[in-house]
Amino acid sequence: MEVPRHVAIILDGNGRWAKSKGMPRNYGHVKGAANVETICRAADSLGIKYLTVYLFSTENWKRNQEEVHALMKLFHSYTRTAIRQARENNMKCRVLGDPSGLDEELQKNLRELVESSKDNTGLNFQLAINYGSRDEIVRGMRRLVRDAREGKIGDVSEITEEVISSYLDTAEIPDPDLLIRTCGEQRLSNFLMWQLSYAELYFTEVPWPAFSKKDLEAAIEAYNKRTRRFGGLKSGEEG
Ligand code: IPE
Ligand code: IPE
Ligand code: MG
Repeated sequence: MEVPRHVAIILDGNGRWAKSKGMPRNYGHVKGAANVETICRAADSLGIKYLTVYLFSTENWKRNQEEVHALMKLFHSYTRTAIRQARENNMKCRVLGDPSGLDEELQKNLRELVESSKDNTGLNFQLAINYGSRDEIVRGMRRLVRDAREGKIGDVSEITEEVISSYLDTAEIPDPDLLIRTCGEQRLSNFLMWQLSYAELYFTEVPWPAFSKKDLEAAIEAYNKRTRRFGGLKSGEEG
C-alpha cells in the first residue's frame, strides 16, 4: 500500500458527537482534542510523514462566546500536553494561521511548542489554529508586496507559483496528498485552498471524537484505489 506523504484533516463533528451522547458540545471538544494525539501516533506508525489538522478557523470566532472561550481554554491545556507529546514522540510541530489573534499565553505556548520541537525528526505535525486560507493569502501577499517595495523582488515576472507558496504559512511543507473531512460535510471551510489543488478528497460520516486508526487506514485504502491525475497525466507518468 502506498501511504500518502501528507494527510490533512478537517476534524469535524465534535458537537454532534457529544449531542448524540446527551452531553454538552464542550465534552465533544475535550474528547476531540484527546483524539488528536491518538491520530498523530497512528499516522506516524503508518508511515505518514506530514499530518495537518484544522483546530480552529478564522470563522470559528463567530460561534457563541461561551463556546469560543471554552475552546481557547482547551487549547491552552492542549498545547501544554502537545509540548510533552512532541518530545516523547519526536514530532516536529508547526503552526498554521495567525497567532496574533490569540491571547498572549496561548501564543507563548505555541512558540514553545514550535521552538522545543524544531530539531525533532519524526512526524511533521501542523496545527492550524486561527487559520483561514483567505486570511493566509492576504497575510502572505502583504508580506510579498512589502518585500517588493524594499527591492527584494525585481520584476513582476519573478513572482512564480513557488514564490507565492513560499509566502504562505505552509512554506517548506509539501502539499497534502489526501484530505480527510469527518462527520459528513463535504466542503473545505476555508482550509488550505491553494495547497489542496491536487489532493484526493475523502469524506467520512464518522465524527472526529470517534475517528480511529482503523478509520485512518480505511481512508488510506480508498486513496490507494484512486488513480491520481495531475492535469491528465497519471501520477508518475512522463509527459
Ligand atoms: C469541530 O467540531 C471542531 C471545531 C470546529 C472547533 P464542531 O464544533 O464543528 O462540531 P459540529 O460540526 O458542530 O458537530
Ligand atoms: C471547520 O469546521 C473548521 C475546523 C474544523 C476548525 P466548521 O464546523 O467550523 O465548519 P463549517 O462551519 O461547518 O463550514
Ligand atoms: Mg462543524
